[in-house]
Amino acid sequence: MSAEQRLQGQVALVTGAASGIGLACARRYKAEGAVVIGADVSACEEPLYDHFEVLDVRDGAAQVALVNVIMERFESLDILLTAAGIGDAGPVHLVEEDAWDRVLDINLKGTFLSIKAVVPAMMAQGSGSIITVASVEGLQGCEGGSSYNASKGGVVLLSKNVAIDYARQGIRCNCICPGFIDTPLLNSVMSMEGMETFRNDVESQHKMGRFGKPEEIAGAAYFLACSDSSFVTGQNIVVDGGYTAGHSHGLVQMMGLG
Ligand code: NAI
Repeated sequence: MSAEQRLQGQVALVTGAASGIGLACARRYKAEGAVVIGADVSACEEPLYDHFEVLDVRDGAAQVALVNVIMERFESLDILLTAAGIGDAGPVHLVEEDAWDRVLDINLKGTFLSIKAVVPAMMAQGSGSIITVASVEGLQGCEGGSSYNASKGGVVLLSKNVAIDYARQGIRCNCICPGFIDTPLLNSVMSMEGMETFRNDVESQHKMGRFGKPEEIAGAAYFLACSDSSFVTGQNIVVDGGYTAGHSHGLVQMMGLG
């Protein structure tokens, strides 16, 4: 927590707010003084929220209704952070069509619907910061990641387009691309039978030798929400412990480094 609460007077809406990255970002926004509204398909017992709505991000009307509630009750909407999402895996010939639709609908269309719901309010007030959560898997391929990677690549480009379209309305839009972060989503995948080798390999591809923590994504989410990033829009902030920095083959370890 900062000595000075830099988000005082700001109203933040966080999707995927019941767990993992969304919850960590909401906690950070609250600690920085913001009014925080959470939305998630799952209920949440966290007392931090000023308002919490159980909704599915695939439901555009429910998201618009929530924004109306926020505007009536809190009179502004300054920050949107979209963390609602699911994982899935499989090479294309093994991915069922309905599984493909589900991942794309939640991760990409859900993000589109969240942004679509908040933009009119942000345009009317002439300001706003939209922060999407994609993934390093939206920037580069990953074996078996077809539907998930496609959805996250879509979020990366959607965010750039939103930044371009609304820059002159005072709305910024940036995307956070996390590496693998220690959350219930990651644990549900990595704890599956036979995943130990995969888990160790993925962890070691993070050059810092560990998975990230949700709070480390919240740090970037705070930067993008506060005035320190007032001239930053249309960017991806990659928070990945060096995962996408390049390849590592152990050469410097052979030379005695670490
Ligand atoms: P999580 O599973 O801990 O949290 C995701 C939240 O989204 C859950 O509370 C879930 O109920 C909610 N959600 C799922 N479908 C929803 C829907 N249709 N409508 C509303 N809410 C819904 O997962 P985590 O790890 O915190 O992931 C958050 C975001 O970060 C996701 O978009 C994920 O793809 C992304 N991400 C996660 C990484 C990781 O390693 N954990 C890495 C890169 C990106």
